[in-house]
Amino acid sequence: MKKFTVIGNWKLNGNNNFVDKFIIKLKKYFLDNPIFYKIVLAPPLLYVHHFTSNIREKNFFIGAQNVDIHISGSFTGEISVDMLQDNGIKYVIIGHSERRKFHHESNEIIAKKFSLLKQRNMVPILCIGETLEEKKQNKTQLICSKQIDDILKYVGENAFKNSIIAYEPIWAIGSGYSATAREIQNINNFIKNYISDYSNVKRNEIITQYGGSVDDLNIEEFFMQDDIDGVLLGGASISLHKFIKILQLIHNLKI
Ligand code: PGA
Repeated sequence: MKKFTVIGNWKLNGNNNFVDKFIIKLKKYFLDNPIFYKIVLAPPLLYVHHFTSNIREKNFFIGAQNVDIHISGSFTGEISVDMLQDNGIKYVIIGHSERRKFHHESNEIIAKKFSLLKQRNMVPILCIGETLEEKKQNKTQLICSKQIDDILKYVGENAFKNSIIAYEPIWAIGSGYSATAREIQNINNFIKNYISDYSNVKRNEIITQYGGSVDDLNIEEFFMQDDIDGVLLGGASISLHKFIKILQLIHNLKI
């Protein structure tokens, strides 16, 4: 059976009322549809406990949208890897283009976060991808390989063992225009070949996902591609209706 992971990134959205509704609906859904793939939901951290204390499902995990590069100390507003781990969180999104853009996170900072997560045996979900301008200049592979190189240089040959890479073209995020299944398959294939050529990790150990305007209309086509091992949902993860529909479609595809 195909291994697949659905990651939901709520970003700066949600409130107690919405979380309550989400949990009720999700619990009911899991009762009727045992999940054979993985779900990682990353709500704002204030709501993590609400989820973890209410939903116990083997393949359902709560993730974080960010982590700091420090372990403790005078860093107002930050959360460390140890605090996340202390609260049962294993999956952490890093390198999202919104953090690169609005919080000026460089490849070096992202590599530090990646390294800290690996030291704790947690799973980084590394987002990489090109701008529209770079796509037009045919630079997609170049940009992705540079972002991967910076991790390999800092973290070492085993960086991508038990890690997740989400190819997220910046122009597709929140735009309603996703990359095509063929484009994603090609770049994910390239990413797997590139990492297996330049590190210790074997091709079949590398997990490559896709994010950028994934919804209930394109999920089935993405699921069918050999090298799309999962999807990262933004907008569709905060629409209860769309989120459940996507889970249902994947459930029906059970290959
Ligand atoms: P989107 O966001 O699904 O709303 O395009 C994806 C993301 O930001 O990872």
